[in-house]
Amino acid sequence: MGTIRKAVFPVAGLGTRFLPATKASPKEMLPVVDKPLIQYAAEEAEAGGAEHLIFITGRHKRSIEDHFDKAYELETELEGAGKSKLLELARNVLPPHVDCIYMRQPEALGLGHAVLCAKPVVGNEPFAIILADDLIRNDDKGVVQQMAEVHERTGASVLSVQEVPPEETDKYGIVQTEAQPDGTLRVVSIVEKPNPADAPSNLAVVGRYLLTPTIFEKLEQTKPGAGGEIQLTDAIAALLEDEPVIAYPFQGKRYDCGSKIGYLEATVEYALSHPELGDRFRDYLASLET
Ligand code: UTP
Repeated sequence: MGTIRKAVFPVAGLGTRFLPATKASPKEMLPVVDKPLIQYAAEEAEAGGAEHLIFITGRHKRSIEDHFDKAYELETELEGAGKSKLLELARNVLPPHVDCIYMRQPEALGLGHAVLCAKPVVGNEPFAIILADDLIRNDDKGVVQQMAEVHERTGASVLSVQEVPPEETDKYGIVQTEAQPDGTLRVVSIVEKPNPADAPSNLAVVGRYLLTPTIFEKLEQTKPGAGGEIQLTDAIAALLEDEPVIAYPFQGKRYDCGSKIGYLEATVEYALSHPELGDRFRDYLASLET
């Protein structure tokens, strides 16, 4: 399958927007209906061809490792009770050909620093980065797979982008682009969280990146910015001086599950389309309206 074999999941952030839920467990373990965010992200990476999932963990790494490990006690219990459907759910969190690698980011020094921690494992090949709190739904083809196809066609690094309301540019990395003859949008500049008045556009980078390994060189040269953090955006700005970087308006619906409202929207919509819960939940919501 495809060219992307490795996916990096930075999960060492502090998750301050979702306190107190994120005090003792990472926001990526918040469940949307019945699966934690990190599992949706892992499934999307696997569907895009990734076989090696690299988690950059922080101080509460246990729950993520436990989630992807075999749960012997639980499996024995469910097996003994003849609960085969539940057993399958507990067992098949990931297909057997996929492995998980855990690396520690000793201090939360920024997304760029977290990505740089993955360098020894990623090596010299293109790789995906997934921020699991950006949950992006596309039941036909996940965004990692869409981006892998763009990379296969062009050989370029690919940033997933979405138009945001102009007054929200200060929450995102914002790109300025130039349309190419092949229909792709080449990034000509990128800035982190610009004020709406200074923003070059309202095209925002969201939590999916597909980067060539040159990004590691650029990250090594990136000086810490605000708050002592090493920004991935700064390294991408340096990357696009040397190599093509494409902005890709992905197909799918994004939920910002790092925010409480985005998380609630995702929960309601995933519940409404859940095969076992959808009808009952719809009835319940209707009953609230009367
Ligand atoms: P965010 O900017 O969303 O920060 O990080 P955060 O700390 O997770 O959340 P808030 O804003 O305080 O609520 C973007 C991504 O980068 C990871 C986070 O886990 C998230 O996926 N990250 C951030 C790291 O892995 N390490 C860091 O030092 C910073």
